[in-house]
Amino acid sequence: MVLCRITSIVWPLLLFHGFTHSWGPFDRQPTGQPQEGALRLVGSEQLSAGRVEVYHSGQWGTVCDDGWARSHAQVVCRQLGFPGAISATVGGTYGEGSGPIWLDDVACTGSESSLSSCHFKGWGVTDCSHKEDAGVVCESGESADSSQKFSLDHSLSLSDTLGILFDSRSSCDFNITVHDSSDEPTEELVICVHKLILSLYPQLNVTETLTNLSVEISHRCHPQVSSFVRYLYTRKIDVTTSSAQCIHQLAYIFKFKELLEEVGRVFSLILPQDGTFQTQVSLYEYGVRTEDLQLQENVLQYLSWNFEQLAVSPAWKSMSTHMMEALLSRSDLVVRDEAYLLLKLEDWIIDKGDAISPERSLGFLSQIRFPMMSVEKLYDIQFTSNLYKSNEAFFQEALLKGFEFNSLPFSTTKPHFNDTDTYLPRIYTAALWSTVINYTSTSNYNYNYNYYNNDRSQVFQTPVHTSVIFNEKTINWQAQVFLYSAECSNQGFICPTLPTARLRTYNNQYYPPYPNTVHYNNLLILTCKNENVVFHVQDFKDEKAVIPSNSSMFLPNPCPDDYTFTFVVRPEYQ
Ligand SMILES: *[C@@H]1O[C@H](CO)[C@@H](O)[C@H](O)[C@H]1NC(C)=O
Ligand SMILES: *[C@@H]1O[C@H](CO)[C@@H](O)[C@H](O)[C@H]1NC(C)=O
Ligand SMILES: *[C@@H]1O[C@H](CO)[C@@H](O)[C@H](O)[C@H]1NC(C)=O
Ligand SMILES: *[C@@H]1O[C@H](CO)[C@@H](O)[C@H](O)[C@H]1NC(C)=O
Ligand SMILES: *[C@@H]1O[C@H](CO)[C@@H](O)[C@H](O)[C@H]1NC(C)=O
Ligand SMILES: *[C@@H]1O[C@H](CO)[C@@H](O)[C@H](O)[C@H]1NC(C)=O
Repeated sequence: MVLCRITSIVWPLLLFHGFTHSWGPFDRQPTGQPQEGALRLVGSEQLSAGRVEVYHSGQWGTVCDDGWARSHAQVVCRQLGFPGAISATVGGTYGEGSGPIWLDDVACTGSESSLSSCHFKGWGVTDCSHKEDAGVVCESGESADSSQKFSLDHSLSLSDTLGILFDSRSSCDFNITVHDSSDEPTEELVICVHKLILSLYPQLNVTETLTNLSVEISHRCHPQVSSFVRYLYTRKIDVTTSSAQCIHQLAYIFKFKELLEEVGRVFSLILPQDGTFQTQVSLYEYGVRTEDLQLQENVLQYLSWNFEQLAVSPAWKSMSTHMMEALLSRSDLVVRDEAYLLLKLEDWIIDKGDAISPERSLGFLSQIRFPMMSVEKLYDIQFTSNLYKSNEAFFQEALLKGFEFNSLPFSTTKPHFNDTDTYLPRIYTAALWSTVINYTSTSNYNYNYNYYNNDRSQVFQTPVHTSVIFNEKTINWQAQVFLYSAECSNQGFICPTLPTARLRTYNNQYYPPYPNTVHYNNLLILTCKNENVVFHVQDFKDEKAVIPSNSSMFLPNPCPDDYTFTFVVRPEYQ
């Protein structure tokens, strides 16, 4: 496996299960300096009232009362974490402060989250004296509801403290012994930990009498064991693409489901980096061994989206039967047409030779969606297929199904659609059903989108449906990519994000609407232009497809400035 090439990406996984972050009037930084713009109330017996002082440039200073009003008190009380404001006080009600007068002529609307985000003259710019120091009276919360709870949450620093405890090994009372899983005798690694911490995890079965725990894992992963054990203390771990597999294995061994899933997602990063597809295929097999469904799904989806590349890669022939089965069942295979899939499947079956029984190969062939082929391709099968002769009965029945679907009205064939997937399209990219727009983030503003072909707008035609019945009927489509919000508003809508892709049909008197038995399940394929890697497939809602951002994909968009949009029209009967 080519897992150790890339080490530059570090994913800090912060898994604080069960800890919440709550507000409280005493929720301050646990240590060190106050933050810039911090507030305090001074000169009152009550915690919830006093002269307002603001921290700036390393120094506490006061606020002048010019224009000071209840809206200011609301901001101050909110910033300090009190439930509300009772009044704003002026004229040094809570005594005169000393030091700088930091704020003057403060203008708040009342909705600001901090006093220093209100408008004011400038730090220390003032014509006031300390006689005019402003103050507030906040609702303490106690009189209104004496049972109110204040949560003091310093759990983040607890994590760090526990990390220090682990690093120090101080008074550790339990050994984790790490052995090499292969037979080669290597030095074993002993990590001393605190039994109390391990007992927090029921799945480790740490009983009273136990003094040690032993782990078997490949020698290659020994350096990762310590950071994994540290995770048991801190719930934090940095995962690189090179350490991901070891961490994943440890999470599997110790049954840490959440960590397993998160690391599984990091694996997806590795996927586009091996053009031979050997990495992806062995990752899938690894996912099967570790029963990691998420990892299996991630890999399968990637392979489905990049199916054509996979089918011509060295990994194709070595693909296992269960993996082929999983792939053939998917509707998100991106492939030029179903006939190409049949061709590639036949190559694979022939290459496997006696390793696959005749019954098994019929099982694979029956996953081909013959009704989704054009009549011309169906007709060609008898001449082009290398398995036709040896499976004539099967093919004749399958071809018949295909021809029936193509030549009979939907109302006739529908009652026989018992294995529905056979009648559902995959993602066919043949020219008849798709169009391409090359995206560059530097394109100029496009003021004319109306039915003209240009770099970000394509008009094209498809048949209404794949069935021969609709051969004569065409439908007109317009594919567009919007880069500027003004381009969207010119077209009468608001782009949710940019870029936005749109695929719509337009009908007028010359283009009658399609029949109501047909609906379109169109998709947008995003490909990195230079690497030819499909990294996302998106559906259209209201004719528009949102291009995923870094955050919504979890993974960084691999080619944000340079990708290709393939718009795929997918008619289905309904
Ligand atoms: C842990 O192992 C070390 C030797 O590596 C040993 O000295 C120590 O006593 C062991 N601790 C426990 C709790 O078994
Ligand atoms: C803990 O015990 C349960 C049953 O008692 C067992 O299924 C599980 O494998 C044990 N876990 C470990 C890590 O040994
Ligand atoms: C590990 O613990 C078992 C009993 O729980 C004990 O018999 C064994 O000697 C311990 N091994 C080491 C290396 O301490
Ligand atoms: C679907 O129909 C075919 C005949 O058209 C039949 O052989 C098959 O058993 C049916 N499958 C199911 C799941 O009903
Ligand atoms: C998009 O770019 C690719 C190569 O970068 C080129 O082969 C293709 O013709 C372009 N398509 C369009 C519609 O401009
Ligand atoms: C998305 O991620 C890529 C690669 O990590 C980065 O170059 C790009 O700036 C990011 N875009 C945004 C909007 O954060």
